[in-house]
Amino acid sequence: MKKILLLIIFSFTMSFSQTYRDPNANIEDRIHDLLSKMTLEEKIGQMQQKNLDEMNENVLAEVKAGKVGSFLNAGNIQNIISLQKAALNSRLGIPLIIGRDVIHGYKTVLPIPLAQAATWNPELVRKGAEIAAIEAKEEGINWTFSPMLDISRDPRWGRIAESLGEDPYLSSVLGVAMIEGFQGKSLNSKNSIAACGKHYVGYGATEGGRDYNTTLIPESELRNIYLKPFQAVSENGIATFMSAFNDLNGVPTSANSFTLKTILRDEWKFDGFVVSDWGAISELIPHGFAKDGKEAAYKAINAGVNMEMVSQHYAYNLRNLINEGKVDINWIDKMVGDILRIKFKLGLFENPLPQIPEESTILSDFHKQIAKESAIESMVLLQNTDNFLPLKSDIKSVAIIGSLADSQIDQMGCWNVEGKAKDVITPLSAIKSEFGDNIQINYCKGYENPRSSSKDYFEKAKQIVEKSDAAIVFVGEDYLLTGESHSRAFINLPGIQEDLVLELAKTNKPIVLVILSGRPLTFGSLTNAVKSILFSWHPGTMSGPAISDILFGKVSPSGKLPVTFPRSEGQIPLYYNHKNTGRPPADNQLGRKIGTPENPDGFASYYLDVDFTPAYYFGFGLSYTKFVYSDLQLSRNVITNDDKIDVSVKVTNSGNFEAKETVQLYIRDLVGSLTRPVKELKGFKKINLKPGESQIVRFEISVHDLKFYDINMNYVAEPGEFHLFVGSSSNKYDLLQAKFELK
Ligand code: BGC
Repeated sequence: MKKILLLIIFSFTMSFSQTYRDPNANIEDRIHDLLSKMTLEEKIGQMQQKNLDEMNENVLAEVKAGKVGSFLNAGNIQNIISLQKAALNSRLGIPLIIGRDVIHGYKTVLPIPLAQAATWNPELVRKGAEIAAIEAKEEGINWTFSPMLDISRDPRWGRIAESLGEDPYLSSVLGVAMIEGFQGKSLNSKNSIAACGKHYVGYGATEGGRDYNTTLIPESELRNIYLKPFQAVSENGIATFMSAFNDLNGVPTSANSFTLKTILRDEWKFDGFVVSDWGAISELIPHGFAKDGKEAAYKAINAGVNMEMVSQHYAYNLRNLINEGKVDINWIDKMVGDILRIKFKLGLFENPLPQIPEESTILSDFHKQIAKESAIESMVLLQNTDNFLPLKSDIKSVAIIGSLADSQIDQMGCWNVEGKAKDVITPLSAIKSEFGDNIQINYCKGYENPRSSSKDYFEKAKQIVEKSDAAIVFVGEDYLLTGESHSRAFINLPGIQEDLVLELAKTNKPIVLVILSGRPLTFGSLTNAVKSILFSWHPGTMSGPAISDILFGKVSPSGKLPVTFPRSEGQIPLYYNHKNTGRPPADNQLGRKIGTPENPDGFASYYLDVDFTPAYYFGFGLSYTKFVYSDLQLSRNVITNDDKIDVSVKVTNSGNFEAKETVQLYIRDLVGSLTRPVKELKGFKKINLKPGESQIVRFEISVHDLKFYDINMNYVAEPGEFHLFVGSSSNKYDLLQAKFELK
């Protein structure tokens, strides 16, 4: 009797307890308590993310009825407040998580992610994400669909602009820096928003660079290359992942239980949640993986996609699937619990409404300063014949050619969802306002827009160059040529830009080419026509001041390529960490005449009509000074499992310009049970040296750095010989070399 009484009292207290509302209770207890109070409809509601097409009473009613767990593109802060209030007025008052593509800055627009990767500066990348989070949070956003961690070896793919390049190590380090910036020390800190690693996984290997296309990636390659950055952010506490659009080895990634369950949950113990990409659950049907929406929901939920973005197959089908025994209610609880866990961790139950600061931080001087630093450090000097840059004081007049020099919107690049063109300072306006009093600036747009085919401005542009001491010619891609669904078969300069530069070169005036772009481009025909080439990507709000500071020598460029630049599209995919093959080409096969000889020289792995080397190597970037590398030393040449090798190298600034340099360390595992890449980046350090100054740069290599997934998917370091390289790029001529052995 006593027992029954106690049970009744216990059940009674439980049903009225509000553990889930108690900020001091353990999060797992809060989840458990809340789940125990939720109806199936409310659980399914949490799994629905909607795009806010229009704000109206129906939307608010749906939220109040507990049918929506999240919004994306919710619009202005008033909308967000109204939506959150509706959610708080739902039966259980579960707040919404509000997502947005805060990809490279918010209203203060940072360089595109690929450009940020060219900084090789994790602290700067972290700060960039931090200021983006601060601005976005001020407007009610608490979740960003960033960082994009897709390894990409194909510059035709428009989304390479959103990526951190081709290397798993660089992408991992910078991806972790980004999530630290977004998420802060703890998800519920004042300035933190949840990050989302996307697109899980392999999306960057899309066939032929065609967006949304098939990916075929052997498991060893998946684990050794494509999964690496995702694993790194998972280990560092990322809150969410986004499943991708691509079909991976026959199983679309938004219904792939191998990647979503086995790897993500079982191996990595990830306990946040996975949102599908936009409509990706619907797309299981055209993929030919589900016959209808019900089967799509069944496959996606059982594979482990917690939340459905935009399409509504969960909402329409989960109840029936549960009733039919095809989906287990315990699995639904696990899926919903993961979403609630992040909502609790974000502190949304305690602080659901945006906290508007007394003074807005948006576009603050500090934020613009970070954006400028990031832009400066991202720009890569590819050529500087006769050290023509920085422009010297004998230059009294400069021709600025190219509408990209003054088009505000094009400085921002793709996936810029909140930036306003009017806030951007263009190169032309920055150069005019900084140097216009002392130098005569002559501007002509040269082309109507980067894609136009009219040569109407050629004559005028030529005249202007003729009467100037030097020309700065802005060429490249407009902001719309990269990004989602913006793949190109040819990655040359669009329109008549190449002709324009060749025409201007006839004046024999020195030309500096500034290339704005979201991807690597081919422009080999212009290298002899110009003195210098500065690859500036799409630099964001502070493009102008950053470019002006570099051209006029206030600061030296220090960007290094995070991706290989091919000589021609025919070479793609071309990447530095390739395999050696049985017939690697040799240097004496370079520079051969184009043609089809009967007996190709050496029968090696190269093209008859283009050199096998890239136009510019991964890791490459010049400076206004010269860095000399010497004294590469290893603390030991033989290591066993527990040892570490201390690596040191002396770097000297032997020029007369203070500058930053990224010191890069690569290794090569000479023989493996699976063939190994010819080089793998294992460390880098960005240092600053005054003229004449030297620094000893140190790295540590442990057995952990030598591990890879072997044919049985064991993560192992195999005994044998290793080469170690340190230097200024992945080009063998830029590297010092040493050897060691793992015993
Ligand atoms: C893109 C995602 C993006 C989502 C939401 C999709 O089309 O692939 O990267 O986060 O839209 O805007």
